[in-house]
Amino acid sequence: MVSPALVSSLLLASCLVRAQSSTAAPRASSTAAAASQFTLPASVDEGATLLPNVYDPTAPDAQVHCPGYTASNVKTSTSGVTAHLTLAGTACNVYGTDVQDLDLLVEYQTNARLHVSIRPSHVTSQNESWYLLSTDYVPAPNQENGQTTTSDLTFSWENTSESGFGFNVTRNGTGEVLFSTTGTKLVFENQFIELVTHQEEKYNLYGLGEVIHGLRLGNNLTRTIYAADVGDPIDYNLYGSHPFYLQTKYFEVGDHNRTTLVTEPLDTSNATSNYTSLSHGVYLRNAHGMEVLLRATNVTWRTLGGSLDLYFFSGPTQPDVTQQYLNVIGEPALQNYWGFGFHQCRWGYQNWSVTEDVVNNYERFAIPLEVIWNDIDYMNHYRDFDNDPIRFNYSTGSAFLKRLHDRGQHYIPIIDSAIYVPNPANASDAYQTFNDGNDTNSFLLNPDGSLYIGDVWPGLTSFPDWSTAAAHTWWKNQLVAWHQKLPVDGAWIDMSEVSSFCVGSCGSGNISLNPVHPPFKLPGEPGNVIYDYPEGFNLTNATEAASAASASQSQAEATVTASSTTASGLTSSSTSYLRTTPTPGQRNVNHPPYVLNNVQGDLAVHAVSPNATHHNGIQEYDVHNLFGHQILQATYAALVAAIPGKRPFLIGRSTFVGSGTVAGHWGGDNMSKFYYMYFSIPQALSFSLFGIPMFGVDTCGFNGNSDEELCNRWMQLSAFFPFYRNHNTLSANSQEAYVWSSVIDATKTAMNVRFQLLPYLYTLFYNAHTKGDTVMRALAWEFPNDPTLADADRQFFLGPSILVTPVLTQGATAVNGVFPGLVEGTAVYYDWYNKTPVSVPSTKNTTIAAPLGHIPVYIRGGVVLATQQMALTTRAARNTSWSLIVAPGVDGRASGSLYLDDGESLAPNATKLVTFSAAMGSLNVTVSGNYTGQDLPLANLTILGVPQPPPSNIVRINGQTVANSTYNTASKTLFISGLEHVLGGKVWSANWTLS
Ligand code: NOJ
Repeated sequence: MVSPALVSSLLLASCLVRAQSSTAAPRASSTAAAASQFTLPASVDEGATLLPNVYDPTAPDAQVHCPGYTASNVKTSTSGVTAHLTLAGTACNVYGTDVQDLDLLVEYQTNARLHVSIRPSHVTSQNESWYLLSTDYVPAPNQENGQTTTSDLTFSWENTSESGFGFNVTRNGTGEVLFSTTGTKLVFENQFIELVTHQEEKYNLYGLGEVIHGLRLGNNLTRTIYAADVGDPIDYNLYGSHPFYLQTKYFEVGDHNRTTLVTEPLDTSNATSNYTSLSHGVYLRNAHGMEVLLRATNVTWRTLGGSLDLYFFSGPTQPDVTQQYLNVIGEPALQNYWGFGFHQCRWGYQNWSVTEDVVNNYERFAIPLEVIWNDIDYMNHYRDFDNDPIRFNYSTGSAFLKRLHDRGQHYIPIIDSAIYVPNPANASDAYQTFNDGNDTNSFLLNPDGSLYIGDVWPGLTSFPDWSTAAAHTWWKNQLVAWHQKLPVDGAWIDMSEVSSFCVGSCGSGNISLNPVHPPFKLPGEPGNVIYDYPEGFNLTNATEAASAASASQSQAEATVTASSTTASGLTSSSTSYLRTTPTPGQRNVNHPPYVLNNVQGDLAVHAVSPNATHHNGIQEYDVHNLFGHQILQATYAALVAAIPGKRPFLIGRSTFVGSGTVAGHWGGDNMSKFYYMYFSIPQALSFSLFGIPMFGVDTCGFNGNSDEELCNRWMQLSAFFPFYRNHNTLSANSQEAYVWSSVIDATKTAMNVRFQLLPYLYTLFYNAHTKGDTVMRALAWEFPNDPTLADADRQFFLGPSILVTPVLTQGATAVNGVFPGLVEGTAVYYDWYNKTPVSVPSTKNTTIAAPLGHIPVYIRGGVVLATQQMALTTRAARNTSWSLIVAPGVDGRASGSLYLDDGESLAPNATKLVTFSAAMGSLNVTVSGNYTGQDLPLANLTILGVPQPPPSNIVRINGQTVANSTYNTASKTLFISGLEHVLGGKVWSANWTLS
C-alpha cells in the first residue's frame, strides 16, 4: 500500500507540477485534456539506497558463517539417489532463516539428462507458503520411460566435517567433473540459497541471460537475473531471465584423461587439428531473483528463494546440449513465413496516414516491406485494446489494413502490459477493458486485498494477475473483441518485466489524479535531452561538426561559470545504505537481506513491487521473472482465438525459460552506436542457446540519432538475423531504409541475399521447431575442435552453411575475420556474391575488403541450397521460380534439405520435405509429402568450385538431355539454365536425378 506520506507528497507535488505540466504532457491524444495533466514527481520512482552484496566488503560471507548440511538416510538405486539433508550446526540465518531439513532427489532422467533437486522437507506442491516454480508455467520433466539404467553422467556425494554435504556430477567415460560443490557449504534459507561450484581457470561459459555482454562470459562478471525495464546497459540485468549455461572445455587430442585443459586465449597461429572439445549444460529451474557470480575458479549461484532444481545435460557437443535443453523447456515455435520479411517500426508514427506514407515510401523506392508496426502512438491515451478515435480510428485503419493485406503485407501493433485505471470522478474516462478485468479479479492486489496500482504510459495502472484463469480469459476476450474492430496480424508485447514507473502501489488513493504523466519527460518533450549528433559525425561531416563543437564548447563554458559559485560539496562522502537483517520465520520481500546487484537498485524501482500479491496468495517477489513469459503465453492463446488456425506472430520484451515456444524477442532499447550493433550478435547467439531463435534488434539503433553509415551497415547485418526490424525512439531522426540513398542500395543488396535464403531460413526454423537445432550459430559451435573460436562473436553462421562477417566499426572499409577450417583444410568457402572459392590465406585471421554497402557473406562448402528470388513481399517471393546452388565441401560432396508448407497454418494439412545429395557429377533430389503450393519451375542450377570445365557440358535430368552447362573459368562455376520446363515446370513434384 502506498504510504500516507507518499500520498501527501503526491498531492503536494500536484500543486507544484500542475501549473507547469501543460507543456510536458505525453504525446497528446486527440481526445486528451493535456493542459490539466498531473505529472508524477520523480521521487515516486526512487527506492531505498542499497549497496549490492557483491560490492559490499562488509557483507557477511555465508560460506564463513553457515554450517552446511549433512546427508543421511541416503538411498542409491540405478535410477538415482534420495537423501535427507540436515543443518550441520547452529543456524546462521545470514540472509534469511535457515531451513533445518531438506530433501535431496537425484534422477537419471535420460542418458543425457540428470536432475538434482534440493528443497525444504516441509514443502509439498500443495504448500504455498514456500514458492516452488509451478509446472503450469515452466515444465519440469520426469524420468523418461520409468527408469534409466544407463547415463552419461554420474552423481556422487560426500559429507565432510568442514563443509558437510557436497556433490559432484561427472561425465562417465572421461571422468571429467562437470559440476562440483564438494568442500563448499550448501546454504538454504527462506530468502537466500547459495551453491558454490568449482571451475578450472579461464573456463568457457555461455548463456545466463539476458545480458549485453560478449558471447563468452569470462570469469569476472556478476550475472544478476531479475527482469528489468532498462535501456540495454552493459553487464547488468535486463528484460529476460535465462538461468542456463553452456560450458565448453577444450582438450588436446590424445589426452584421454582430460587432464590438460586448454584455456583461452590461444595463439591463433596454433594449428587446431590437435584439439577437441566437450560441452555440457546446466539449467537452474528457479524463477526467483538470483545472481550467478563468475569468478576466477568458482561459479556461485545465489537465489532469493525457491529451490535448487538443477538439470545437467551431458552434450557432448553444443548442438546436443541445446537439443537436450530444449527438449526439457520446449522447442521454438514455427514462425510464419511472412515473419521473415522486413519489418518497419518506430515510436512516433502519429496517425494512419503517416504510417501509410512509410509503407508507400518503401514501395516508391522498391525496398521490400512486409510488416508495418505502430508503437503506443496508436492508442487512445495509451490504453490497450483501444485506438485513438481520430488519429487511428478503426474504419480508416481497417481500410488501410485491407490495402496492406491485399498486397501481401501485414500490420503489428504494440500491446503494453499494464491496464489504465480510469478516474472514477470523470465519467468520460470510463475504460471497459479495465472494468472487465476488475470485475473478474484479473489484476494484482496489495497485501490488504485492494487493487495494486502502479504507473505506466497511460497513467496509474493495474497489472494482470496471470495466476488466475480469469485473467487469461479476460485478456483473450479483450484481444478478440479488439481484433474484430481492427484485424491486426499479431502482437508486440512491451513493458512486461513488469514495468511500473513508481515504487509500490503509488496509485492507491490517487486515482482521481488520472490520467497522470510519467515521473520523467518523454523523448522529445521540452526539457528532455536533445539527441546528439550521430556517432562518427565528426569524421564524416568534419566542417559541420567543428562548428557544432565550438558552439557547444562556449555553451559549456557559460554553464561552468554560472555553476562554479555553487559547486561546493557536490558529492557526499558518506552514503548510508539500507541493509535489512532477517527476522526469524519471516520474509522481507521488498528489501531482502541479500541485496542483488539490480540495475535499478531497489527491487521495486521501475517495476511492480515485490509485495504485490496474486489472487492465489503468491507474492510478486516469487514470480517477478515470470510476468513476461506468462503474458506471452496468454497472448499466444488470445491470438489463436482471434485468428483461428494461424500461427501467432508474437514478439515480447521480457522472456523466461521456454518463451521461445510461443514468441520471439527483440533486443530492447539499444543505442544508435556501432558498439550496440556488435552486441546484437552475442545477444542473438545467447538467445539461440535459450531456444528463442526468432531474435533481432532495433536495426539502426533505438535511442539517439542514427546516421547513414551506421544504418547502412546495420540494415545489412540485420538482414541475416531471423527477426529483421528497424525501430526508432520518439523524436530521434528518421532512419527508415529509404532516408539515405546509400542505405537504399545497401538494404536492397542485403535483402536480395536474405530473400534468396528465405527457404533455407524457414527450413532452419523447421529444424529448430522439430529437433531443437539453432538458427544463428557461433563459430565455436560449428567448429568445436578449434579453441581459438571460443570467444568469436563478431562473425556468425546462419544455420550451418552461411558465414557472415560484418563491418562493426565506424569508418572501416575492410574487416578482419576468420574462415574456420579453411587454413586447416577441413572447410571450403565460396563468396556469396561472385560464387568464387575463397583462396586459402596464409594466416587464420584475414582481412576482407568491405566498402560501405558490402557485407561479406560466404557459403560454407558441403551444402545444396534451394533459393528463390527477391520480391517486395514474401508472398510474391514464394511464387518465384527456384534455383539450386551446389557448394561442394572438401570431400566434393554436398547435401541439404528444404521444408515447405503454406507458411502460416498452425497445423498445416500438407507439408513437403525435399532432400538433396550431390557427389561425383550428379545430384539426387528426393521428395516426400504432399504440399504442392511451391511446386514451381526450376530456373537454374549453379555448381560451385568446379576446378576445370567438365568433359561434357550435356545436362541430363532422369537420363534425358535437358540443357547445356556453361563453365566460368574465373569463378570456377558451372551454370545450368533453361530448366523451367523440366519436370513439367514443377520441381518438387517427384524425385529426380541430375547428371
Ligand atoms: C519501450 C520499448 O522497449 C520501445 O521499443 C518502445 O518504443 C517504447 N517502450 C514505447 O512504447
